[in-house]
Amino acid sequence: MKPLDAHDADAYDALPKVELHCHVEGAIRPQTVMELARKNDRRLPTSDPTELYRYTSLDSFLEVFWLVQSLLADPDDWARAAHESIIDAAPHGLRHREMFFTPARHLAAGQTLAGIVEGLSRGIERAEADTGVSCMLICDIDRSFGPGPAGELVDAAIELRRRGAGERLIGIGMDSTERGVDPRDFAEAFARARSAGFHVTAHAGEDTGPDNVATALDALGIERIDHGLAVMDDPDLTARLAELRVPLDVCPSSNVVIANRFARLEDHPFRGMRQAGLLATLNTDDPAMTDLDLGREYRSVAAAQGMGWEEMTAVALDGVEASWLDESDKRRVRAQFRAEIAAITPP
Ligand code: ADE
Ligand code: ZN
Repeated sequence: MKPLDAHDADAYDALPKVELHCHVEGAIRPQTVMELARKNDRRLPTSDPTELYRYTSLDSFLEVFWLVQSLLADPDDWARAAHESIIDAAPHGLRHREMFFTPARHLAAGQTLAGIVEGLSRGIERAEADTGVSCMLICDIDRSFGPGPAGELVDAAIELRRRGAGERLIGIGMDSTERGVDPRDFAEAFARARSAGFHVTAHAGEDTGPDNVATALDALGIERIDHGLAVMDDPDLTARLAELRVPLDVCPSSNVVIANRFARLEDHPFRGMRQAGLLATLNTDDPAMTDLDLGREYRSVAAAQGMGWEEMTAVALDGVEASWLDESDKRRVRAQFRAEIAAITPP
């Protein structure tokens, strides 16, 4: 099969996809950022937020991410962010998403988890009706707030579930700064989340080495690894994750632009991860803050890594396996994906 180039737009947008690593706050349109700032009487350092969207490290990105997310002041703002994020992704082949939100800052400022989840769910429902895309939620612990707020967040999620609210909230995750934070500090919060029946995942190995991934796996019992690219530095860990089919939701463009881990997409280990047997999927992370969409992520990675159409359709199908859909939904979605893929003219 001929190598693909970055202009084969239609096939990559048409390819049906699951996305397991996208932060709703990182998917807010720049125009909406401006409008939220105006509505909530917040001053931004610039009249064009994209001027802020250049990063020298994960921590420099997080400063901007925290500013943007702090503009979400009430449930309607969360609803708008969720709705627009799905409307924007649907034309690029998104069919199902398990989407992060990180509410530590908002809870500290007096918002409630119930209000945030209600707003997000309302926006998602409207987007589902508009596009047919399904979307569930993962509530991320912000590591920089420490284990106390993490435990309170998990308790609030459990209480929401006990009241029969928040049925879209299916998982607990953890994001934010990685350096200088020991995943073991969050073991208790994750244990409570697991025993309440939440799925669990965590960002690991984005900005640190493979030990961080192994510790997160063992201490937190996570089912999925967000990023996880550092596992390739440890052959034993790679073999273990491949054997267990632990999904890694990898975000190559983000790793270049946000974590500054590689100079070019060509240098990213994505294809090597798959060749090593890892269940590595493709995701956008923070698309609006990196000028990205899911079609472009697949197209650019295919071109940069020399991956053919067959390999890329396998990545899309692996997204279904890596998701938290139940087995009957996975069978249904996989069959639907296969039928759609068969109708696409390969690039
Ligand atoms: N929050 C939003 N995007 C993130 C990333 N790439 N890493 C850690 N935390 C994040
Ligand atoms: Zn992320």
